[in-house]
Amino acid sequence: MSKTWFITGATRGLGADIAAAALRAGDRVVATGRQRAAVSDRLGPDSDRLLSLSLEVGDLEQAQAAVAAAVERFGAIDVLVNNAGYGHIGFFEESSPADIEAQFATNVFGLFNVTRAALPAMRAARRGHVFNLSSTAGIRGIAAGSLYCATKFAVEGFSESLAQELAPFGIHVTLIEPGPFRTDFLTPESLRFAAAELTDYDVRRAEMRASFEQRNGKQAGDPVRLAEALVTLSREAAPPMRFAAGAMAVSAMDAKVASLKTELDRWRELGIGTDFPAGA
Ligand SMILES: NC(=O)c1ccc[n+]([C@@H]2O[C@H](COP(=O)([O-])OP(=O)(O)OC[C@H]3O[C@@H](n4cnc5c(N)ncnc54)[C@H](OP(=O)(O)O)[C@@H]3O)[C@@H](O)[C@H]2O)c1
Repeated sequence: MSKTWFITGATRGLGADIAAAALRAGDRVVATGRQRAAVSDRLGPDSDRLLSLSLEVGDLEQAQAAVAAAVERFGAIDVLVNNAGYGHIGFFEESSPADIEAQFATNVFGLFNVTRAALPAMRAARRGHVFNLSSTAGIRGIAAGSLYCATKFAVEGFSESLAQELAPFGIHVTLIEPGPFRTDFLTPESLRFAAAELTDYDVRRAEMRASFEQRNGKQAGDPVRLAEALVTLSREAAPPMRFAAGAMAVSAMDAKVASLKTELDRWRELGIGTDFPAGA
């Protein structure tokens, strides 16, 4: 049965590719973006299966209006893709409180806004699937990624809990954890760098910036293939809680599982020993 998708950040990158893949699969798509014209430039004019809408995810009222327009046009939202996001790169001490607020406003509070807006219609329909774009940055910390990782770890904890809250309504939640994918993510149009410069971080800052520049355009992940994988997952009766996308993400997940197990075993007895004695 064909589905109706509601996608954030569909002006470019993964969001646009997911919208295009869903349209190719014969589904209906509500494609949203900060600039509605940019969505239409990328995906074409509205049609009987495409509705483009303006949506800055930090704006709850706009999210509610977009969801209302989507339900009015297509009757339901079957698949919500919380995709909009960007990376703030910089050491924590070089990042300002405004950097923190902006990073959380889009990657976390924006995702909350859109989810809050969409859930009443999905719950009423007693079906649906929420895809939340996390990252390998949601399963392991990286130096100079403290804020970005903090937002993606927040998305992980939120999604794992939300999945349990929504399961009785037949709504699935899946975390998408991509490694590096060849989108605009690493370009100056998307990435934001911390502005402050503390001498102690000079060497590592220079190395980190050079490394980001070198990696841009050479990422192993193909966004079109990831978009098609989401369409496949949207048709699964029992979709995964987590989907590591790309070989780098799969090996990052393997390494995380192994390091958690090693550390757990190393400190197991001391940890268990912090309970009251049995029967106390
Ligand atoms: N590409 C990767 O390597 C990678 C890896 C792991 C996770 N991810 C995650 O995948 C998602 C998509 O990233 P991408 O690679 O497609 O990046 P991208 O090419 O830079 O596209 C980002 C999209 O998010 C939109 N956006 C940003 N802030 C927004 C806001 N406040 N409200 C509405 N839309 C907003 C952008 O809209 P504008 O055009 O208006 O700026 C754009 O459509 C992000 O959540 C990112 O963290 C990406």
